[in-house]
Amino acid sequence: MEGSGDVAGEGPAVAVLEQRLVAGGQGHVLRFWAELGGAARRALVAELCDMDVAEINRFFRRARGEGGGGAAVAAAVLDERMEPVPRDVLGSASRDRGLLPRWESRGLAEIAGSRVAALLLAGGQGTRLGVPYPKGMCDVGLPSRKTLFHLQAQRLRRLQQLAEEQHGTPCHIPWYIMTSGRTMESTKEFFLKHRYFGLKKENVIFFQQGMLPALGFDGKILLEEKGKIAMAPDGNGGLYRALGAHGIVDDMERRGVQSVHVYCVDNILVKVADPRFIGFCLEKGADCGAKVVEKTNPTEPVGVVCQVDGVYQVVEYSEISLATAQKRGPDGRLLFNAGNIANHYFTTAFLKDVVNTYEPRLQHHVAEKKIPHVDIATGQLIQPEKPNGIKMEKFVFDIFQFSNLKDANDLPIQCEISPLVSYGGEGLEKYVKDREFHTPLIIDEDGIRELVKNGM
Ligand code: UD1
Repeated sequence: MEGSGDVAGEGPAVAVLEQRLVAGGQGHVLRFWAELGGAARRALVAELCDMDVAEINRFFRRARGEGGGGAAVAAAVLDERMEPVPRDVLGSASRDRGLLPRWESRGLAEIAGSRVAALLLAGGQGTRLGVPYPKGMCDVGLPSRKTLFHLQAQRLRRLQQLAEEQHGTPCHIPWYIMTSGRTMESTKEFFLKHRYFGLKKENVIFFQQGMLPALGFDGKILLEEKGKIAMAPDGNGGLYRALGAHGIVDDMERRGVQSVHVYCVDNILVKVADPRFIGFCLEKGADCGAKVVEKTNPTEPVGVVCQVDGVYQVVEYSEISLATAQKRGPDGRLLFNAGNIANHYFTTAFLKDVVNTYEPRLQHHVAEKKIPHVDIATGQLIQPEKPNGIKMEKFVFDIFQFSNLKDANDLPIQCEISPLVSYGGEGLEKYVKDREFHTPLIIDEDGIRELVKNGM
């Protein structure tokens, strides 16, 4: 039997599991079965029972181009087919300054009607940040020590308040938070501990994305430990499968949500459920939108919104060649300069179509990685010095191809003002009029504090 340990006498369930693994060429994951204790065996079986081996093999073949030239060839071919986004689909926070109030009031009206939701992608592992807990729990070095989750929650509260003040009706912005197997429990505990940062518990909805095993270049599942598969979340595009699996689109419909702002956890400046962005997309009648910031440096690690074969797409920074990233237009600016800041707009109706129809068509992106693993022959833990396998991920923007995408340029902001005081610059006059300040400075519910003077 293909490399598997002795599972005889473990009962019919394990025997069936083994058969399935062997049939899929993945029997080696049970190679160390005989060495595992009861708890490790149970954990491994639980992990394997959730795994569809035939599907994983299919994903691998598809991601590797079914005998095609692999990722490098795909990138080169992609480069040749890329074109910049046409100007007319772009709205700009600076060029269209005069339209901002209109977009904002349209967005606020939607929020006041409780037709807008925010959806946070928080299933990443935070490995680059080097923290062992979810990124949203990071203290990002603000004088107030607020975490990313805290800031975002306060922005939502303030926005609800603004919409209520303008429209005189109570409203709420449901906040959907996607976590992964590795971040779910700690994220939930953190919110509970902080009493949902003042939001209503029933309006904070957690759901979990899927995981996929890391594979060797030969398509074999890698073991992180003798009884543990090397698993990772299936990319932020795992969102769409998770939306279906956990009935999230149904929940949105039940709540009357029509517009959803999807964003990434690690943006300290994020304008959650930004009414201008929502209003802009509604005015354009778009089912899908993306906020972009001009990319000015060819090697900046941001994806670029562009067209490929006339269809909207984000080409990720890991997938664009340097030569293409360096191309400049006649005005001297980068040709592909619509830098994706991972702030997306979707209508609920579009998300429903994606979940029901398009999701299975999305192809995984392949990242070649150095993946620590247990050598099947020797049982030794190997720390590779060069890439030895792949991780497969879907990306959140991969559904743009099915939409009539609109882009909006964003403007950066610069200082610490509590989101509870001001969502986007409004209401500050009473704090600052006819007064002079020295930075660093904090403006929050208690007033203004000059941090240096106060010795903070
Ligand atoms: C992302 C964008 C990139 C953009 C950049 C701007 C994607 C795929 N790439 O890159 O185009 O220019 O932000 O800052 O969106 N996440 C999950 N599940 C996963 C993996 C990630 O929920 O399986 C979440 C993370 O928690 C994070 C977000 O997705 O909130 C972005 O993931 P990350 O891998 O950090 O993407 P970037 O490299 O920042």
